[in-house]
Amino acid sequence: MTDTQTISPLRVVVLISGSGSNLQALIDGQKNGSLPIEIMAVISNKAGVKGLERAEQVSIATRVISHKDFDSREAFDQKLLTEIESFSPGLVVLAGFMRILTEGFTQHFVGRMINIHPSLLPKYQGLHTHQRAIDANDSHGGASVHFVTAELDGGPIIIQAKVAIDDNETSDSLAAKVLTVEHKILPLTVKWFALNKLTMAANNAVLCGESLPPQGFQWQDNEETNRLIDVLVKA
Ligand code: GRF
Repeated sequence: MTDTQTISPLRVVVLISGSGSNLQALIDGQKNGSLPIEIMAVISNKAGVKGLERAEQVSIATRVISHKDFDSREAFDQKLLTEIESFSPGLVVLAGFMRILTEGFTQHFVGRMINIHPSLLPKYQGLHTHQRAIDANDSHGGASVHFVTAELDGGPIIIQAKVAIDDNETSDSLAAKVLTVEHKILPLTVKWFALNKLTMAANNAVLCGESLPPQGFQWQDNEETNRLIDVLVKA
């Protein structure tokens, strides 16, 4: 029996605004049995995006809620909240969802909503993260997964992965490299949450009962990290 077969699947709703390659990593994990989840719905604030197609291809329910149809952020967030809750999710994943959320919305989901952000937080909250890292002559860029709180890209960090910034790096080339590690750390975070190893307590991310350091678990693509993850998952 694998570690993912002993508990009932976690109900997950994924919010997107675009390509949905991170969503695809979650779909693949669900399909190949490595993630004990069931993606109940994919909700986009933009019609016609590739992420919606990816969900439709595997018969996951989709919804489009365009922010343009609402007079205020509050009204949009209220509709979004109601739609998400209609699927009774245990976890909400923001996977390239490009809207700022109101405090009431983030409070409602606190501890059960995570976001993937393409920088080594707390550096470069907000937009244009790759160009900002290049302009600052940083040696590394990367990605972070964090619990969502009212502060934009500011909630407790769960995990980070770094990639080297090479000479002549462009924003596009760095984005592509960072996406490859995003596709590792987002499913891993979801797995920890689904296995009840990960919680948020007192504004900290807590993994297997221990508060994570401020910059979260430092993921690397090597044997040692894999061994540590294995131990954590089986603990
Ligand atoms: C990712 O870089 C994510 O970190 C950011 O938006 C991008 C979404 O990519 N928030 P995709 O839609 O998952 O391909």
